[in-house]
Amino acid sequence: MEQPQTVLRLEPRDDFITTPSIEGICRRATAYLDAGYACHFSGSAGTGKTTLALHVASQRKRPVMLIFGNEEFGTSDLVGAEKGLLSTKVVDNYIHSVLKTEETHRSQWVDNRLTTACKHGYTLVYDEFSRSRPEANNALLTILEEGILALPESQCGDAYMRVHPDFRAIFTSNPEEYAGVHKTQNALLDRMITIELGHYDRKTEIAISRARAGLDNRSAEIVVDLIREFRKLGVSTYRPTIRACIMLGRVVQLRGGKIRAGDPVFVETCLDVLGSDMLKVRKDGVSVASEEVADLIRRIA
Ligand SMILES: Nc1ncnc2c1ncn2[C@@H]1O[C@H](COP(=O)(O)OP(=O)(O)O)[C@@H](O)[C@H]1O
Ligand SMILES: [Mg+2]
Repeated sequence: MEQPQTVLRLEPRDDFITTPSIEGICRRATAYLDAGYACHFSGSAGTGKTTLALHVASQRKRPVMLIFGNEEFGTSDLVGAEKGLLSTKVVDNYIHSVLKTEETHRSQWVDNRLTTACKHGYTLVYDEFSRSRPEANNALLTILEEGILALPESQCGDAYMRVHPDFRAIFTSNPEEYAGVHKTQNALLDRMITIELGHYDRKTEIAISRARAGLDNRSAEIVVDLIREFRKLGVSTYRPTIRACIMLGRVVQLRGGKIRAGDPVFVETCLDVLGSDMLKVRKDGVSVASEEVADLIRRIA
């Protein structure tokens, strides 16, 4: 039995930015998919993994199945249980079966989407796959290696299904996340081609900030240079990300400010957007965050 599922028909989004570096990444990913392999974007938060995965998927012109890795299948269990409680008032027997259905629903959820994608040759986008427990991802091993999906017993008919030749999978994950949480799923990683992503280059960040925050070129340059300089302070290797550029640009404009050194709205918003990262900027053990940011703004804007 298949659960009702949402199949996405993705159109490339108009604010997707292509620069030579992004084009290069997409070209590689598409080539690996064309060669029959699964492709995996690995990188810190804000390196464009999800955006790139969906973009590459949209270019295949096949329906897309999207799954978000989730460590706690319990989240959806809770939602189901509450619904069950609501209907308790109606019929006793009914509740019983509802609760039971919910349970099987839980264990079949991932399998079902996978099954549909494998059966019809859809493109699977499995975002942050490493957030799911490794056992939940086991079915993918034979899919990627042998092109065979082992169906659970409860599914009628064959215990094995041959994967449709057009089926492809695009994964994303953040290596920092699974360092402590789950053991790296080496067997799975061994069956896909991984493209390591870092922060975009300056030109790309400027282009994205312009497109996503509606900034003029000079303002986008200031915002991006500020964030890039801030990264160099070494508070964290992966923050602030391109998201901070977009946030800063959007908020300052909405509040009627200007992206310039003397603008109080800009300075204030910088302090908030960079907030928690900023507090960690220390000189001789003392937090010098706001001075450091004010100084950066004076130098750049
Ligand atoms: N090529 C691109 N064109 C336009 N916006 C982009 C592009 N790549 C990333 N972004 C934007 O940058 C931000 C971070 O990208 P995202 O894909 O969510 O990163 P990740 O999944 O690695 O955390 C998002 O706001 C996204 O819309
Ligand atoms: Mg993401």
